[in-house]
Amino acid sequence: MTSNLPLRAVLRNGETVLIREIGPDDRRLMREGFEKLSKQSRFFRFLAPHQHLSEAELDHFTEANTKDHFAIGAASLGVDEDMPLGTARFVRLTEDKNDAEFALTIIDSHQRLGLGSLLLRSLARAGHARGIERFTALIHHDNTGIQALMRCFGGHRLTGGVEEEWELPLPLKPKPTLSRQPNEIAILRKPQ
Ligand SMILES: CC(C)(COP(=O)(O)OP(=O)(O)OC[C@H]1O[C@@H](n2cnc3c(N)ncnc32)[C@H](O)[C@@H]1OP(=O)(O)O)[C@@H](O)C(=O)NCCC(=O)NCCS
Repeated sequence: MTSNLPLRAVLRNGETVLIREIGPDDRRLMREGFEKLSKQSRFFRFLAPHQHLSEAELDHFTEANTKDHFAIGAASLGVDEDMPLGTARFVRLTEDKNDAEFALTIIDSHQRLGLGSLLLRSLARAGHARGIERFTALIHHDNTGIQALMRCFGGHRLTGGVEEEWELPLPLKPKPTLSRQPNEIAILRKPQ
């Protein structure tokens, strides 16, 4: 299966990050990353107050990747090496195999550095390579950040209300307004 991961990238603050697939060895990083989220970010991610990740959630969030459930994460390669900075995942919908629900979370200290768009682009590439044609998400009406980010890539709202349904067709269509994107640096793999 094609993948451009792992990759390194430089954020707008000059910090170098590693983007890679998430797997069963990442429980500690997943827990630490969650602890770095503000109440507001947790609320926007889970659409409800959320204090701790349960063991069942940790199991789910660190499952080995498949073509139906795929997760990637970003960690710092800077001063705080290995600090978890964000995650993105999609889960294929059972009713329509070409659709997948996606979620994206960046820790508060690293928002507005281009990392969310970088993770979304990488996740979309992985999803499209696995036959996904549309990402969907339930987005809180007040979550203007993810709404703006989705619009940048061609996404739009399908239904209104407190929890709005949004869709994002794949492959993504980046709009010219997003000019300061992180530079991606490919990691060369040794031939097997
Ligand atoms: C929404 C979220 C993922 C955005 O991640 P990010 O790394 O901050 O996004 P980026 O830096 O890549 O932003 C890219 C563009 O999206 C738009 N954007 C992102 N956050 C924004 C905000 N808070 N307000 C307005 N526009 C915003 C901007 O156009 C931005 O480009 P610019 O910075 O050049 O103006 C992040 O704020 C987050 O994790 N929030 C908490 C969890 C959440 O809401 N998840 C989404 C539901 S699943």
